[in-house]
Amino acid sequence: MNVADSELIASVLTGNNYELTAEIKDADVILINTCSIRDNAEQRIYKRINELQHLRKNNSGLKIGIIGCMAERVGDLLFEKEGNINFLAGPDSYRNISSIIEQSSNERVTDILLSNTETYEDILPGKHLEDGITAFVPIMRGCENFCTYCVVPFTRGKERSRPPWSIEEEIELHSKNNVFEITLLGQNVNSYSFEQTDFPDLLKNLAEKFSNLRFRFATSHPKDLSDKLIDVIASHPNICKSIHLPMQSGSSEILKRMNRKYTREWYLERVAAIMKRMPECTISTDIIAGFCGETEQDHQQTLSAMKEAGFFHAFMFKYSERPGTAAAKVLNDDVPEEVKTKRLTEIINLQQEISYKHNENDVGKTFEVMIEGTSKRNKDELMGRTSQNKVVVFPGNIGTSPPGTIVKVQISNVTSATLRGESEVVGSAKA
Ligand code: 5AD
Ligand code: SF4
Repeated sequence: MNVADSELIASVLTGNNYELTAEIKDADVILINTCSIRDNAEQRIYKRINELQHLRKNNSGLKIGIIGCMAERVGDLLFEKEGNINFLAGPDSYRNISSIIEQSSNERVTDILLSNTETYEDILPGKHLEDGITAFVPIMRGCENFCTYCVVPFTRGKERSRPPWSIEEEIELHSKNNVFEITLLGQNVNSYSFEQTDFPDLLKNLAEKFSNLRFRFATSHPKDLSDKLIDVIASHPNICKSIHLPMQSGSSEILKRMNRKYTREWYLERVAAIMKRMPECTISTDIIAGFCGETEQDHQQTLSAMKEAGFFHAFMFKYSERPGTAAAKVLNDDVPEEVKTKRLTEIINLQQEISYKHNENDVGKTFEVMIEGTSKRNKDELMGRTSQNKVVVFPGNIGTSPPGTIVKVQISNVTSATLRGESEVVGSAKA
């Protein structure tokens, strides 16, 4: 989401006669787009603010602004903490970013008012910051799920959906600019709703209108992952067969305390429903270790649910108490740090085993891979992704197989993170 927001801001600023610099030392304005989701994300930002101060020596007019969730959450207190900053802009203030910057010549400026309606529907982000064949397109903003551990509903405000015409306009622009894959973004895409259009309708319409592009989406809340959505994914070849479905915990008791509004059984049934309709589909997840009151038995339930679901990939975190959340107010962060660490290590080790087995199953199979570029490790190899979102590395040359080309690759060996194979060109994604 922050990548997409940074693009949006780049669009607003370039439209107001600002230029992007390639080197940070040449900048007159530095914007730090921030995340508040865990405490360590915020600690990294404080460090970054300090590291940037030396640039003021050669540029006394330099302005440093903190934008996004941390500006929203911490507010004016940020001016008092470490480092020296000039302005704050929250996630719903990007339309005003030029005037905020200008005003900050005279005084410190804070613009963190959240909106119930802002979707930036009339601003086309384009691709100023990231090149490459994929683009992230926000379809909604905010979140009202209020999972008890999560700060997002407080930093990004009310849930609102972007009009379909505006989403289409942005995708149209990307499709003309060498983008081959679109990831539709929202905190909970399953609750997208604009007039009569729900998320499955939106996804279906986009996949059919832009049949030359490949579509992904994130994130799906398991509580409202519908059969209608599964059906739309299954019946459109250009919708990737990979679903990010954060489980958070395998214990119904913990899920209840997290206010996730589903049980272990519901979650595993949704996974079974996906796999029944699309046996080739992969599922990835997010897991939190050591939430308030988590017992060893709850933790064992998470491990067993991971095995049962067979995730191909997972983002795994230690619980980090966030000020202002329901968990911080009414629950006890009572799992000792060393127990959190031990449980997280067990979760990571298990996931590595599961990922390896998942990948091992692919040996001998042939996949369509969309080339993204040259492999970072070896310039004689190319890197791309399957529809299942697995990274594949194989011999090849970017001159003859440019990014966006679809090739068939037979898998010969694997690690827990990567598939390797031989390639055979079968044509371009944009036929
Ligand atoms: N502590 C640890 N992990 C968190 N997440 C969200 N809030 C917290 C927190 N307070 C994780 C969840 C979510 C992902 C984006 O970040 O797993 O799905
Ligand atoms: Fe946070 Fe829950 Fe909303 Fe995800 S669904 S952003 S975890 S409150």
